[in-house]
Amino acid sequence: MDDTPAHLPTALPVLRADAREAGFTMSSDDRTGSLLAALAATRPGGRILELGTGVGEGTAWLLSGMDPASRLTTLELDPALQAFAQERLGTDPRVTFVSADGGSWLEDYDGAPFDLVFADTWPGKFTHLDRALDLVAPGGTYLIDDLLPQPGRSRDHEASVTRLLADLDERKDFRCVRLAWASGLLMAVRTG
Ligand SMILES: C[S@@+](CC[C@H](N)C(=O)[O-])C[C@H]1O[C@@H](n2cnc3c(N)ncnc32)[C@H](O)[C@@H]1O
Repeated sequence: MDDTPAHLPTALPVLRADAREAGFTMSSDDRTGSLLAALAATRPGGRILELGTGVGEGTAWLLSGMDPASRLTTLELDPALQAFAQERLGTDPRVTFVSADGGSWLEDYDGAPFDLVFADTWPGKFTHLDRALDLVAPGGTYLIDDLLPQPGRSRDHEASVTRLLADLDERKDFRCVRLAWASGLLMAVRTG
C-alpha cells in the first residue's frame, strides 16, 4: 500500500518553498499532515490547538480537514517563522495565530478546552505535559509526532522521548495508541 496522501492542501507547495527559503526543516511530513486533517474532520465545530506553527504546514493540513465552524489556535515562539503562515493562511477566519512561548501560554490559558491538541514543540510535550493534557476535552485527542529515533538526535533527546512515552502510559484518563509510522506518532484520547 502506498501511504502517500493523494490530496495536499492548496497552500502546501508555497509553504514548502517558504520553509526552504527560511532553512526550516521541522515541518510535519505529509503522512502526519493527512492524519491531522482526518482528525480535524472528525470534529465538526471543533476547537483545535497547535503548539509550534513553524512556517504553517501542519496548520494548512489542519485547516484542510476542518469544517467552516471549527476554530484553530496555533502558537509559535519565532514570529519570523509564523509570518510565513500568517501571509499564506491568515485570510482564513478559522485560524488565530498567537506569537508566544508555549510554556507561558499553557500556564496562563484559562479558556475552554480543545477537541484536538497537536503538541509539536517542547512545551506541551517534553515540558508542561500535564497542562497540555488538562486542556484536552473529554473524548478529545492529543497528538504528538517525531517519536521514532532519528539520526543526529542527542541521547538526551531520545531519553526525553522514552520518559514522555512512559508518562503517557501512566495516565489512566487517556487511551493511548502508538503508531510506528511517519516520524513516530502517539495519539491519546481523553476518557475521563
Ligand atoms: C516541529 S516545529 C513545528 C512544525 C509544524 N507544527 C508543522 O506541522 O509543520 C516546532 C516549532 O516550535 C517552535 N518552538 C520552539 N520552542 C517553542 C516554544 N517554547 N513555544 C512555542 N513554539 C516553540 C519552533 O520555532 C518550531 O517552529
